[in-house]
Amino acid sequence: MSVDAEFRDRFARVAAWIEDYLRETRRYPVLSRSQPGDLIAALPAAPPDEGESFDAIFRDFERLIVPGITHWNHPRFFAYFSISAAPVTILAEALAAALDVNAMLWRTSPAATELEDVTLGWLRQMLGLPPAFHGIIYDTASISGYTALAAARESLGLDIRERGMAGRSDLPVLRVYITDQTHSHIEKGAIALGVGRENVVKVPIDDDFRMRPEALAQALDDDIAHGRRPMAAVATVGTTSTTSSDPVAAIREITRARNVWLHVDAAYAGPAAILPEFRSLLDPAHGAESLVVNPHKWLFVPIDLSVLFVRDPELLRRTFSLAAVYLVAPETGVHNYMDYGLQLGRRFRALKLWFAIRSYGVHGLQEHLRGHIALAQEFAGWVAAEAEWEIAAPHPLSVVCYRAVPAGRDDAAVDALNAAIMEDVNADGRIFISSTKLRGRTVLRLAIGNERTTREDVVLAWEIIREAALRLR
Ligand SMILES: Cc1ncc(COP(=O)(O)O)c(C=O)c1O
Repeated sequence: MSVDAEFRDRFARVAAWIEDYLRETRRYPVLSRSQPGDLIAALPAAPPDEGESFDAIFRDFERLIVPGITHWNHPRFFAYFSISAAPVTILAEALAAALDVNAMLWRTSPAATELEDVTLGWLRQMLGLPPAFHGIIYDTASISGYTALAAARESLGLDIRERGMAGRSDLPVLRVYITDQTHSHIEKGAIALGVGRENVVKVPIDDDFRMRPEALAQALDDDIAHGRRPMAAVATVGTTSTTSSDPVAAIREITRARNVWLHVDAAYAGPAAILPEFRSLLDPAHGAESLVVNPHKWLFVPIDLSVLFVRDPELLRRTFSLAAVYLVAPETGVHNYMDYGLQLGRRFRALKLWFAIRSYGVHGLQEHLRGHIALAQEFAGWVAAEAEWEIAAPHPLSVVCYRAVPAGRDDAAVDALNAAIMEDVNADGRIFISSTKLRGRTVLRLAIGNERTTREDVVLAWEIIREAALRLR
């Protein structure tokens, strides 16, 4: 497609569509009504031989693609972790696509690399992290976590980078310590790095779903006594199910005393540390070797943008760098970020974070996060005030776990009722909620995190959920 006056018209048309969409998102059912295979059946099995008109493509986008969308950017998306792409960041994404930068080396776009350095320096200050932490952008927390684990493995000095692991009788069994509340990407990382699922130790938790530090110490000491080698312990600040936070300060003492890498997963809750009243969430993580925060979860930046902060970027570089003959980079004193992870090519992700931070300012971001936390607390108050409902876990942030508990039902019937409430509510289409299992029991979750969610949206959500429960009990 050439760039001509038509391009401008089409861009204006797309801009108008986006504006309508963001203003009127509430008219869409949050959870797509699509049935499996709907879109596949509606599209031709083979590609077009000749190019088609923009009108035809855009018509099909509206007619076929949009109905198959579950609207994550909807103010009444209360499932999983609620996210949102601020309008200004959508513009930044369009600009990044227009530039089509591959920021693999500093010289392949100096501004992309240096904007990443500057913006993550700002983010580090906003989170109150010490200057010793160096931030790098990856696509997701899963890849950030994998990368941190790879650096942890390299730090053991076992020469795995050069010699691998297979067939080596000199290697100890490597161990990673998590809890049953830790996000599954850590276990996936352990699989990919040759640690093996068997060697991912699930440390027991307390009544509030937090790692028990004395149990971690015991597991580490037991492994060390048996010749197994601790590779990393992972503490979560804001777990996926309940947003509980492991006691990072106590865990830090234990890992430090045994010289074990501590990775802190603050993918969801990390952004809350920009609030003075929640600054202490990340304070104990200052001594960690690595820490992940996801601006694409709760800083209004569109997916995907995850930030890994590491204390020793040189170690990370040593873990991954390979000098290919066709990628000469003569500049010194610059970052060539292809050296800091698996991927060579890198999108210009820093641009959208820069737009977001500049456009909201720290105070604007704080106001939104504070609002979300306040709404979640208000919702929890409504639930707690009802006789046949209960709060299922502490809710310090913007997620509430709760369940209907009608009298005279056994556990299985209560679980079935809550599962049925969720299905009923989601079929209604006006809101979307998700569930989890806590101590084997089915529990509903309400997550607030979209910048356009209002108190009326949360009031409506509670009305819909309560009505569903009354109807189904
Ligand atoms: C605590 C935590 N860590 C990591 C992840 C994985 O995030 P991503 O989708 O960026 O890989 C999640 C996802 O919800 C999460 O809740």
